[in-house]
Amino acid sequence: MKAMICRAHGEPESLEYGDLPTPATGPDEVRIAVRAAGVNFPDILVVQGKYQFKTPFPFAPGMECAGEIVETGANVTHLRPGDRVAAHPWNGCFAEQVVAPAATAFKLPDGIDLATAAACPVTYGTVYHALVDRGELRADDTLLVLGAAGGVGLNAVEIGKLLGARVIAAAGSADKLALCREYGADETVDYGTGPLRDQVKALTGGRGADVIFDAVGGDMTDAAMRCINWQGRLLIIGFAGGRIARVPANLALLKGVALVGVAYQSFANRDPAASRTNMATLLDWLAAGRLRPHISMRFPLPQAPDAMRAIAERRSTGKVVLLVDEPTVS
Ligand SMILES: NC(=O)c1ccc[n+]([C@@H]2O[C@H](COP(=O)([O-])OP(=O)(O)OC[C@H]3O[C@@H](n4cnc5c(N)ncnc54)[C@H](OP(=O)(O)O)[C@@H]3O)[C@@H](O)[C@H]2O)c1
Repeated sequence: MKAMICRAHGEPESLEYGDLPTPATGPDEVRIAVRAAGVNFPDILVVQGKYQFKTPFPFAPGMECAGEIVETGANVTHLRPGDRVAAHPWNGCFAEQVVAPAATAFKLPDGIDLATAAACPVTYGTVYHALVDRGELRADDTLLVLGAAGGVGLNAVEIGKLLGARVIAAAGSADKLALCREYGADETVDYGTGPLRDQVKALTGGRGADVIFDAVGGDMTDAAMRCINWQGRLLIIGFAGGRIARVPANLALLKGVALVGVAYQSFANRDPAASRTNMATLLDWLAAGRLRPHISMRFPLPQAPDAMRAIAERRSTGKVVLLVDEPTVS
C-alpha cells in the first residue's frame, strides 16, 4: 500500500511517499481503508524523534483518520466491514490502510463526511479530557485558551463554551481571533498588542482566569502564571512555542494554583473505556451540530510534508487534513 514513510528521524520533508507492506489484522484490531487523515502538531514531533513514544522504522506517521472498515479481528464485535469509522491508533494513518486497536475506532453517525471525521479524534478527545476530566471546568469559570486558533485551541474555545464557561481566546493575529469569536469566544487577546497578563487582568476585574488551557508553553506559560486566579488550574497541554515551561513554584504556592498535566494518549491507552465514553459524547455533539470542526487546509496524501510545514509555520487554523485516494493497485 502507498504510505508516507519515515525511515529515519528528520524534518517533515524527509518523509518518502512509497510502498509499505499492508498490515495484518490481529484479533483485537480492525483494518481501515483510510480516506482522510488529520494532521496534528505532535506528528511533526514524531517524525523529528522528539515525541514521548518512539516507533521502529520504517513506519507511517499519522495519529488519526477516518475511513471504512475492511477487516475485523476475531474478538471484535462492535464493528463490521463496511462501517464508516473515525479512529486514533496514534500511528500509521498517513497511508492507504491502517490497522488500529478496535478500542480506538468509533462508528460514525450518518451525515458526517470522512474528511470532517478525520479531524476530530485527537484534538476533541484531548480537549474533552483536559477540560472535563482534568480541569473540572465549571459554568461559572473563566477559561483562558492560549494558541486559541490552533487544532486543540479552537476545540477548547468551542467545548469551553458548550460547558458554559466564559472564554477568553488568546492568539497571534486579528484573523485568528476573529475565527475564535466565530467559535464562541467571549473575549479575545492579541499577544501582539500588549502583555498577556495586563489584558487578561483587565478582562477579569483583576482576578485572572480560573482555568488556563496552555498548548503553547515557554514565555506564554510564564505570562499565564501571572494572570491566573486564586486556586486556578493551569492545564499543561503542550509546548508548540518550542520551549518547555519551567513554572516558578512560589507562584503556584502563593495563588494555590494546581498544575495539571494532560496526556491524552496515555489516558486513552490506560483507560480505554473512559476514553470511549468521552468519544461517544463528542460524536453525539458532532451529530447534533454542536461541534463544528474547522478545517483550514486539505492536501493529498503525498503532500503530507507541506501540511506539516503549514502547521509548524503557524499558517493553519483549526485542523489540516490529508485526503487519500482510492488505491489504484489492488
Ligand atoms: N497533551 C496532549 O495530550 C496533547 C494532544 C494533542 C496536542 N498536544 C500539543 O498541543 C500543542 C498544539 O497542538 P496542535 O495540534 O493544536 O497545534 P497547532 O494547530 O499548530 O496549534 C498551535 C498553536 O500554538 C501557537 N504557537 C505559538 N508559538 C508557536 C510556534 N513556535 N510554532 C507553532 N505554533 C505556535 C499558534 O498560534 P498563534 O500563531 O496564534 O500563536 C498555533 O495556532 C502541541 O504542543 C501538541 O504537541 C498535546
